[in-house]
Amino acid sequence: MSEVLTLEKQLLTNQKEVKKTPVKKFYIETLGCQMNVADSELIIAMLVDKGFIKSDNPQNSDLIFINTCSIRERAEEKVHSQLGRWAKIKKNKPEVIIGVLGCMAQNLKQDILENRPFVDIILGPDSYRKLPEIINRSMYDQQSIVDTKLSRYEVYDGLFPKRKDGVNAWISIMRGCDKFCTFCIVPFTRGRERSRNIDSIVKEAEYAVKSGYRELTLLGQNVNSFRYGDFMFHDLLEIVSQISGVDRIRYTSPHPQDISDELLAVMRKNDNICNYIHLPLQSGSDKILKRMHRSYLKEDFLSLAKKIRQILPGVGISTDIIVGFPGETEEDFLETISVMEDVKFDSAFNFKYSPRVGTKASEYEDQILETTKQKRLEKVINLQKEHSIQRNKKLIGTTQIILVEKQSKMSLDHWAGRTDSNKWVIFRKGKVKLNEMVKVLIIDSKGISLKGELVSEEKLA
Ligand code: SAH
Ligand code: SF4
Ligand code: F3S
Repeated sequence: MSEVLTLEKQLLTNQKEVKKTPVKKFYIETLGCQMNVADSELIIAMLVDKGFIKSDNPQNSDLIFINTCSIRERAEEKVHSQLGRWAKIKKNKPEVIIGVLGCMAQNLKQDILENRPFVDIILGPDSYRKLPEIINRSMYDQQSIVDTKLSRYEVYDGLFPKRKDGVNAWISIMRGCDKFCTFCIVPFTRGRERSRNIDSIVKEAEYAVKSGYRELTLLGQNVNSFRYGDFMFHDLLEIVSQISGVDRIRYTSPHPQDISDELLAVMRKNDNICNYIHLPLQSGSDKILKRMHRSYLKEDFLSLAKKIRQILPGVGISTDIIVGFPGETEEDFLETISVMEDVKFDSAFNFKYSPRVGTKASEYEDQILETTKQKRLEKVINLQKEHSIQRNKKLIGTTQIILVEKQSKMSLDHWAGRTDSNKWVIFRKGKVKLNEMVKVLIIDSKGISLKGELVSEEKLA
């Protein structure tokens, strides 16, 4: 008996010794969408809370994580090449722990386990709460630890993210996606839609404002399908806009199907909700939209865009376009061009269709040649450039309120900030400081950004 006790005592002492070992440093690299950025901020908060120290250099870190994205093949390739580099670090320092987190972990765990045996931890987007415990386990365990179970409930309530300094705070309000567009991996990597408790969102928003963030961006894979009890997305937006001290509110990524009249009314009524909507088109052809399972047709999209522009004068509208979806003929492609010509988006993210294993569209037999995709992509990019310039030119001579966000890449004497319609403006610094709101006269349009002049050096807020 006494022997057992001694053994237990010894174990306890050993554990204490382990705790006394030097503080571990961790490095985390984030790829993919803003949801991943927000998730990494949660992970950082959790690890710092447990006494780990964040490092900006994987070479001198004890733990190296990559928060991954599976949306297109290119995103996955980046992870593979990074893991290749980190394999060398691990070879020189076998005690380093390497972790693959996020959407690719969810999607490609088998592949990683087989082809990257040096990866110690594989964690899907709903398993981050377990990370500190799993790190402890993997310090002793030679086996890779995998947890990619998706949850119907996890919204990471009660955890406050550790944000980067800056003007904007990301606030995740819902997770997952139930729409199952046939090209998209997100419903598989992120699981079912669930919304966060309003009180906890408001608490986090208030805390962010108190900590000095002037802009809040509400986040979700389908941000406007937020629903908590009887509260819809527009109710939440109204509530957040009433929080004292919130200068700007943005949200991303919405789905056209859930842009309601109530949402547009709330945006029109509240000055601190930015006059900007991301409205992902994907394709202008009805045949393709149906095959994509997008739930709207060309005409629905066009009338929605028209309505938005009527209700919200001066609104900025951006979009996402996919070219080369399976079965897309030249005629279908021209339908996309025709929507672009009609709406004249302020900006666009344009992509070549990338088949994702497990999605319906990847099994369609009429895949499009890479060369055709490339040609179509170039056309779309060039056309969008023209439209962005046309839209930007309309602002010349107007006075815009700009939130000073960062040093301009153009020159050390200039700041860069955005209009509430989401256009970047570069202007001479004067006495103005970062994080201030100022009035700027737009004097020129340069490429896809604008050039301005301070109307006065007095800050508005
Ligand atoms: N929930 C948002 C989009 C999230 S994904 C929405 O429905 O609008 C961001 C963008 O990536 C999509 O709008 C789409 O344009 C692009 N995308 C998604 N899957 C893709 C794929 N397999 N190939 C190319 N682009 C893709
Ligand atoms: Fe993907 Fe469609 Fe869901 Fe957007 S709505 S995340 S494109 S499945
Ligand atoms: Fe990528 Fe996952 Fe976001 S696949 S785009 S990181 S939801």
